[in-house]
Amino acid sequence: MKNTFGNKLSFTIFGESHGEEIGIVLDGLKSGIKIDEEFIDHQLALRRPYGSIGTARVEKDAFRIVSGAFNGHTTGSPLTIIIPNENKKSSDYSDTRYIARPSHADYTAYVKYNGFEDYRGGGHFSGRITAALVAGASIVIPALKEEGIMIGTHIKKLGGICDREFDDPEKDIAFLNEEKFAVLDKKAQDAMISAIEEVAKEGDSIGGHLESAIIGMKPGFGEPFFDSLESLYSHALFSIPGIKGVSFSDAFENCLKRGSEFNDEFGIKDGKVVTSSNNNSGINGGISNGMPIVIKCAVKPTPSIFKDQKTIDMKDNKECTLSLKGRHDPAIIHRARVVVDSMLALVTYDVIS
Ligand SMILES: Cc1cc2nc3c(=O)[nH]c(=O)nc-3n(C[C@H](O)[C@H](O)[C@H](O)COP(=O)(O)O)c2cc1C
Repeated sequence: MKNTFGNKLSFTIFGESHGEEIGIVLDGLKSGIKIDEEFIDHQLALRRPYGSIGTARVEKDAFRIVSGAFNGHTTGSPLTIIIPNENKKSSDYSDTRYIARPSHADYTAYVKYNGFEDYRGGGHFSGRITAALVAGASIVIPALKEEGIMIGTHIKKLGGICDREFDDPEKDIAFLNEEKFAVLDKKAQDAMISAIEEVAKEGDSIGGHLESAIIGMKPGFGEPFFDSLESLYSHALFSIPGIKGVSFSDAFENCLKRGSEFNDEFGIKDGKVVTSSNNNSGINGGISNGMPIVIKCAVKPTPSIFKDQKTIDMKDNKECTLSLKGRHDPAIIHRARVVVDSMLALVTYDVIS
């Protein structure tokens, strides 16, 4: 099992949904980064479920930084953040121990780890572990800001409802980073929340698309081939549970165009090199060209739903029906967006280090 990612900054995540604690170790941070505990809290709150559109499992996320920090700053040694799991209800999982939830990792984990996996609440496969990524990224986001780099994500599409495009990315990102349900257009936001409430009433779930922008990255970062920016970002994003697709700008649509339509023509604006369009999403040859890096992620509907589903009993190797208990999000997309921001921040810090 591999739980570490990154080169100059490597980060390791650990823990299970119903274990004592989850956490992250960041190795390769520069010394002297100011640690803003209020900001870490703020970011963790963006991931926390709430109201009628979230699971009833709400955690305080009372994190502790147990190494790598002194007098409010990073020291340069590995920084470890631990977050206790408090609101656990493992009994919800004992009856269905051997019943594989369709679309979840119960079956594959059982096969791969020979039944030794901690199955409670999805164990190590749970979205709960992503809290550690959010806490870890909260250390590097202020450092990126000092370098002029800002990252923000909105829910671009949920079911059939669309948000507006990024308009003024800097202003839009500042707005999104304060929003619990990150949508730029208020009408679309209301409609998306209603759609989630609707599926929740039916015991069902819903997915959608996130769109992120990384702005302020200077030209010249990244590598050709295996450590291309596209490779690093997409590798990291696909590590987030529930992410099933990643594209740079609208690559699948844009790549159907002719070269004369697709190519981003170069120009100079205020003495800086710019492109007239951004079909390459700010990346040429794996290396940043200074334009915004725009990434879309497809987030699937939450696997755990309360409608009866056909599945298997893994122990008896028999078909059966699953009637699920437990506490689950009717949608994970609004919580996943800060996880996406966090992954992008950790990779960006690594790349510019
Ligand atoms: C923030 C977050 C919260 C999640 N909450 C749930 C949940 O309540 N119930 C559930 O079945 N899956 C949830 N998931 C998704 C599962 O963890 C994920 O679908 C599962 O591990 C299988 O991985 P895969 O979808 O990448 O194949 C969540 C994911 C994230 C990122």
